[in-house]
Order: sequence, then structure tokens, then C-alpha cells
Amino acid sequence: MTKSKIVATGSYLPQKIVTNDDLSKMVDTSDEWIVTRTGIKSRHIADDAELTSDLAKNAALDAINSSNLDISKIDAIILATTTPDLTFPSTAVITQEKLGIKNAFAFDVQAVCSGFVYAMQIADSFIKAKKAKNILVIGAETMSRIVNWDDRNSCVLFGDGAGAIILSAQEAGNSDFLATNLHSDGSFVDILKTTGGTSLNKNSGFIEMQGREVFKNAVEKMSNSLLEAIKQANLKIEDIDWLIPHQANLRILDSVAKKVGISQEKVIITLQNHGNTSAASIPLALDFANKNNKLIRGQHIAFEALGGGLTWGSIVLVW
Ligand SMILES: CC(C)(COP(=O)(O)OP(=O)(O)OC[C@H]1O[C@@H](n2cnc3c(N)ncnc32)[C@H](O)[C@@H]1OP(=O)(O)O)[C@@H](O)C(=O)NCCC(=O)NCCS
Repeated sequence: MTKSKIVATGSYLPQKIVTNDDLSKMVDTSDEWIVTRTGIKSRHIADDAELTSDLAKNAALDAINSSNLDISKIDAIILATTTPDLTFPSTAVITQEKLGIKNAFAFDVQAVCSGFVYAMQIADSFIKAKKAKNILVIGAETMSRIVNWDDRNSCVLFGDGAGAIILSAQEAGNSDFLATNLHSDGSFVDILKTTGGTSLNKNSGFIEMQGREVFKNAVEKMSNSLLEAIKQANLKIEDIDWLIPHQANLRILDSVAKKVGISQEKVIITLQNHGNTSAASIPLALDFANKNNKLIRGQHIAFEALGGGLTWGSIVLVW
């Protein structure tokens, strides 16, 4: 049976760094409050001229350059974003053009902070269905464009960035996705959303959030989905070598780790340096773990995410 293997990872963060102290000059907040409540210390913010597709291109090039793959062999591009360059066409095709990739089909996935977990599962399904052999999966966001910089409840949480993987078809070897699940529940639309949209008011709007509700749902739903995937993979929690969660808030990650019984040393955490980059956060954390030689072939890696929708899901794979 055809298996899916992550053969390369890449990432990109914009140059400009905004610290908690910088934010405390803009809204009534403090480094102490932000670090205690979220674990975030700084975030990267894209220049006005730097678009989501530019971040995506840079992360993709990082992944392509660290693989042995010729760019002409990439036959699909799946890009998760909630901050597209344009309403249409997709940021995936704009990124395709910027990368000079000709023989691929490309499209966006919109599942907000769960976007990369959705995109990875779609890519795995395409590989298993023999629809594609080498898929560039990207998570890229310019969240700073939809942050209300006067709202201290949300502006301290988000940042810009991009991460990418190349998922390739393999007939031999152990690397593969063992278990996957996706969930959504539209009854939670109002707890995490933007104030605008193309059809509603021809305006992308700003992030609006009921923080405590999101927090509670994130812990409960990510824990259940992770346990569901581990069970489906016929594994026990102690068999998981690394958990790479959506990087939203350190307290959420600590609560999930405690609830499912995974040691905190096994959780990859990068949010202190880039905040919540929505669909980019998992591939940013994955690339950090990979570049720092934490991941060893044959290990069991779990991913989990929750985002606006609500949407959520998990993956367990053999690295
Ligand atoms: C947003 C979040 C950090 C707030 O933490 P909290 O402990 O729930 O705090 P509350 O919202 O209850 O607010 C407590 C107080 O801090 C204040 N506060 C909120 N943001 C603040 C900030 N940046 N700086 C200082 N004070 C702030 C509130 O106004 C409130 O003051 P009050 O008691 O006088 O009304 C937390 O709810 C959270 O992380 N939620 C999940 C958000 C998330 O991850 N979203 C994306 C998911 S993909």
C-alpha cells in the first residue's frame, strides 16, 4: 500500500519582531500579563509589502532546498490560510507562480488554526488515492492584517509566519500516517470569528474572540481528538515520542498534556517566539523540531489543532 512520508520541512518568519514591551506601548497590557496568561514573548510581523504568498514561498523554498526533490516533481500544492492575498484566486496558485512550479494543481484550505492539520490529511488522502506523488503542503498567515491593534484581548496573541512540508508517496519503509481525524461544529461560529467577510460586508474584518470559551473548548476537543487518534493507531499515550500541537497558548498546551497524560518534555513548543500564527504554527513547530534533530525516523509523532469554526483534528504518524 502507498504510504505518506514527510521528506522535508521548511519555515519562514518575517524580520520585524514585536515584543510584549512594544505592545504595552500600544494597549494597556504588560509583559508579565502576556507571559503569565499565554507564554508568548514576541511575535513576527510582515511588512506591508510582504504578502501571505511571499511568506509561503519562502517557507516552501526552505523545504524544497532541504529535500533532494526536483521542483518539477511537485504535482500538488495545498496551502492552508485564513489570510489570503486576494479573495480570489487562491494564495496557493499565487505561490505556485512565485515558485515557478508548472506541473501541479494548487488550492487553498480554510480551517483557520486547524488549517494545516486539515491540509496534511487531504494531502495524505491524495497520496493514498494515487492522485499525487509529491505534495507541497504549506501553512501561511499574515494574521497582523486582521488583528484589531486596539483590542488587548486578542492583539497580544497573534503573529505572522509560514511553514511547509513536502509529503511524498512511498511504497516501502515504515514512515506513514497511522491515524487521522477531523471535526467541526458550526454552532461555535460566534466564539472566534472576524467582524467582516466578502459576502457579509465586502471587508475582511478583524478578529473577535471570547477567550475563555475558546480556551475551554480547545482543551476538551484537542484532548479528545488526540486520544481518538492514538487509539485508532493502536498505540498508548506513552508510545508517542513527540506531540506537535497548534501553538496558541502555553496554558492550553499544558492543560492538554496533563489531561491526556503526556509528559511536557515531549511537547514541542515554539509559541514564545512567534505567538499564534494560525495555520502556520504547526509547520513552524515541526520545522523547529526537525532542524534541531529532535525527530528520529521510526518515532511516533502526534499533531493536534483547534481553530475558528470550531474546527479541530489530530494526526498520529510514523516519522
Ligand atoms: C485570551 C486569554 C489569554 C485571556 O486569559 P484569561 O485568563 O481567560 O483572562 P480573561 O479574559 O478572563 O481576562 C481577565 C482580565 O484580564 C484583562 N485582559 C485581557 N487581555 C489583557 C491584556 N492583554 N493585558 C492585560 N489585561 C488583559 C481582561 O480585561 C480582564 O480584566 P477584568 O477582570 O478587569 O475584566 C485566554 O482566555 C486564552 O488564551 N484563550 C484562548 C485564546 C486562543 O487561543 N484563541 C485562538 C485559538 S485558535
